Formats: sequence, structure tokens, C-alpha cells
Amino acid sequence: MAIKTVGVVGGGLMGSGIAQTAAQAGYDVLLAEVNQELLDRGMRRVHGAWEMLSGKGRITADQAAEYRGRIRGTLELNEFADRDLVIEAIVENLDAKRALFRTLDEIVPAGRILASNTSSLPIIEMAAVTQRQDRVAGLHFFNPAPVMKLVEIVRTILTSEETVSELREFATTLGKTPVVAKDTAGFIVNFLLIPYMLSAIRMYENGLATMRDIDSGMKLGCGYPMGPFELLDYVGLDTTLYAAEQIYKENPDPANAPPTLLRRMVQAGRYGKKNGKGFYNLDETSGAR
Ligand code: CAA
Ligand code: NAD
Repeated sequence: MAIKTVGVVGGGLMGSGIAQTAAQAGYDVLLAEVNQELLDRGMRRVHGAWEMLSGKGRITADQAAEYRGRIRGTLELNEFADRDLVIEAIVENLDAKRALFRTLDEIVPAGRILASNTSSLPIIEMAAVTQRQDRVAGLHFFNPAPVMKLVEIVRTILTSEETVSELREFATTLGKTPVVAKDTAGFIVNFLLIPYMLSAIRMYENGLATMRDIDSGMKLGCGYPMGPFELLDYVGLDTTLYAAEQIYKENPDPANAPPTLLRRMVQAGRYGKKNGKGFYNLDETSGAR
């Protein structure tokens, strides 16, 4: 079936970017959050991006108004009853995601696709709580979603060919390049990226170099757009920790084990750019640099 209406659950870093991307591509988008304050924040992020693009002359004021007209926020998941595709982008926690999939399965008509933007969790565990296991898949965007060109389509042992092909078509209409991955922790990109970021933390923890020098090394020596610590702050330290735990659980290689400093940062409530407190703005006196 042709996808026309899209629901996004979770208006954080990723959900707001996915909702923005879908609205820009012409879809009718409904964005859900848990409370009004977070919903307003997510919607502000989307509207702010269009203001920025219009200020730079990348889109016209008419286009910005047209995009704004295609997206609406809600606190009521019952409104998702008319959605052709729902993309879950809530916190990286399996219990929370399973509870949400159970609810969505009751609201969204049978046969419509339920997708998860999880970084690492098994999609089959979300599919298992639904009555439509062939219509559940991973649809993994990269941060920032409106800019990064890749989307991983994660196919479980029960996802149908039809679902994969509809998601491939959907990703293409967003201007993304889809790749298909098996339902294993980290899929393609995070299986490689997470141990790289963890290695950088271990290198710093062991006093081998400063954070800035490690970042300069990878940017200037390898041409990466961000160094590993900039990227950790950008992705979110909580999300990175939860994804690392999952990848380690399935692949108990020491390279996948979350370093103590990453745990301490999350325990200290330092989540990175999303709450303005990450590796890069640790108190000068903490000695973390
Ligand atoms: N909507 C549309 N366009 C946007 C935008 C938005 N919300 N935000 C930025 N842009 C556009 C800007 O307008 C700009 O376009 P122009 O060049 O045409 O003006 C372009 O994107 C680049 O933006 P900036 O100039 O602000 O910033 P930059 O050049 O420093 O690039 C960056 C920023 C794209 C984030 C770059 O630093 C980068 O690629 N970093 C690495 C990101 C990365 O590795 N992401 C993957 C993380 S891992 C992940 O996501 C998976 C997971 O599960 C954890
Ligand atoms: P985030 O913390 O910025 O946002 C999560 C949002 O979900 C929060 O605003 C929270 O209020 C909301 N939420 C939680 N439970 C909800 C519910 N039941 N209903 C509606 N909203 C709910 O997190 P994020 O970085 O956007 O990550 C979201 C998902 O995307 C995670 O699974 C993460 O692993 C994945 N992901 C993250 C990145 C990244 O770089 N941050 C990249 C790709 C995928």
C-alpha cells in the first residue's frame, strides 16, 4: 500500500528530525510526545530548522509555511488510528518500546507498518508483542536525520518482503539511501561506530591523549567531520551507553564493553548536547579534560 500518513512517537533529537524530513517530503505527519512541554520543544526544533533553512535561502517562506502545514503534534496516541506508517523514536529502553508497540498495535489498523528507530535493540522483541509481526521492521535514521543520507532497514526473521520493499520506497522518497541489515545488535553502522567511540573514551581514560587531541586526530588525520568526543556529545551519552550495553550483550568482545567513565557521565546526568552537559563542557576543575 502507498504510505501517505506518518506517525512519529518521541519528539527528541531523532523523532523531531524524522518528522521534519517526512513533512518536507510531502507526508502528512503526526508527532507524539509524553507531555506538552516536550511536545512544544520537539515542534520548536522542527519549526526552528525551517526558519534556519529559509533564513539561509535554502527554502522559500512559502515552502516553510507549506511544511509547517503538514505536521501536527499530539499527546494522544489514539490519533494514530489513521496512520499508514508509525516510526517509534522514544528512549533506548526495550521495556518502554515493547509497551509502546503493544499500545500501537491496538490503535493502528492491522496491515499498517510499525517501525522502530532503535540504535541497537532487537526489533523482533518489539514485533513479538504485536499481532502483525510481518509488518514490523527497524527504520534506523542517523543524526541529524534531515541531513544524513543513510537509512538502515532492519529485517527480522519474520518481516515480510512487502514490508521491506515499502520501507525502501519510503526511505527513497525522503531522499535517503536505504540499506538492509539483519536484526543483530548495532545493525551495520553502530556495530562499527560504537566500539570506535568506546575506544576513544578508553584512550582518554588511560591518559594517552587529551580529548581535544583525540578529536583533532580523527578530524585532521582521517577527515571525519567530528571527532569521537564531539560525536559522543552529539549522539547523546545515554543513548550511546544503552546501545553499547546491547551490543556487548550480544557480542561480549571487550571492545564493546562500556567504559566506566561513560557510565559515570550518564550516572551524573551528563547526556551531551541534548542537555548541554557532555564531555566537552565538564567543569574545568573536574580534571576531565
Ligand atoms: N534540516 C535540514 N538541513 C539541515 C539541518 C536540519 N535540521 N541542520 C543542518 N542542516 C544543513 C545546513 O543547512 C547545512 O547545509 P548548507 O551547507 O547547505 O548550508 C548542512 O546541513 C550542514 O550543517 P552545518 O553547516 O550547520 O554544520 P556542519 O557543516 O558543521 O555539519 C554535521 C554538521 C552534518 C552534523 C557534520 O558535523 C557531520 O556530518 N557530523 C557527523 C554526524 C554523524 O556521524 N552522525 C551519525 C551519528 S551515529 C547515529 O546517528 C546512529 C545512532 O544510532 C547513534
Ligand atoms: P531523546 O532522549 O532525544 O528523545 C526521546 C524522546 O522520546 C524524549 O523526548 C521522550 O520524552 C520521548 N518519549 C519517551 N517515551 C515516550 C512515549 N511512550 N511516547 C512518546 N514519547 C516518548 O532520544 P533520541 O536521541 O531522539 O533517541 C530516540 C531513539 O532513536 C532511541 O531509540 C535511540 O537509540 C535512537 N537513535 C538515536 C540516535 C542519536 O544519535 N541520538 C541516532 C539514531 C537512532
